Amino acid sequence: MSWKVINLNSPLAQKLADSLVCPCYTITRDHFPDGESYLRLPDANYNDQCLLCADLFSPDTKIMPLILAANTLREHAAKKIGLLAPYLPYMRQDIAFNPGEAVSAGIFANLISQHFDVLWTVDPHLHRINALDEIYRIPAFNLAASPLISNYIQQNIQNPILIGPDMESEQWVSETAMGCNAPWFILEKLRHSSRNVEIHGSLGHIKGKQPVLVDDIISTGYTMSETVKRLLAAGSKPPVCICVHGLFVEDAYNRLLEAGAARVISCNSITHESNAIDLLPLLTAAITSS
Ligand code: R5P
Repeated sequence: MSWKVINLNSPLAQKLADSLVCPCYTITRDHFPDGESYLRLPDANYNDQCLLCADLFSPDTKIMPLILAANTLREHAAKKIGLLAPYLPYMRQDIAFNPGEAVSAGIFANLISQHFDVLWTVDPHLHRINALDEIYRIPAFNLAASPLISNYIQQNIQNPILIGPDMESEQWVSETAMGCNAPWFILEKLRHSSRNVEIHGSLGHIKGKQPVLVDDIISTGYTMSETVKRLLAAGSKPPVCICVHGLFVEDAYNRLLEAGAARVISCNSITHESNAIDLLPLLTAAITSS
């Protein structure tokens, strides 16, 4: 049985359909005057496997349309409904840090598991959760961007040394370094608040190398900008910063360039001028082999 790609709001949807050689239907979205979501499927036969492509960055206004779309596909006899969300939101609040806090990672996973049959995403922020199936009740595939990032580094950066700004980044940095046969090390991050971080650790290995900072997410950019400043203060070349998901909130991109980054590079899970690593081959291979 083939797939039909259903585009909720993703610039990758049509390209994915082209490479899967299947149709792509774009959902019409609007709002009623009171702000409630309206959506309409184009006239087609949905009695098939339907792959809903969604950009879920800044998710709160996108979740209701997502649920409406999944349910409307079900009402139109879709046999299986997949969600392709290259950036998976609500992964960082994976425990209650203070009494009474919502553990949004589990709550969001429950919601998606109720409405979809299968999920594909790229490098979700797994920290205290080891694997998606600890919180998702549907098959949930975690696709790794590291081979694509390794390839980018090999093609574009000479004499690299990969650096992770904190312990959590080790999983991405080590894989990426192995893929491009580069040395790597990890620093330590002390986070006081979302906009106040300190970076510590020995920088003895960077002499004569091109530092490449690798992390899964750049959000406010403070993690990377503090690391850039530390490296430059230690006499390194201007570092290249690479992330899988560039959220770049609050002018983070310019903050990184102003801190002295040579370049800031992201994968195209979220559309941004820094996109230089195309996830399409990874997504196509994953869907094709399912
Ligand atoms: C968190 O642990 C992630 O791996 C990133 O390091 C973090 O999301 C970056 O956040 P920010 O850009 O706001 O410092």
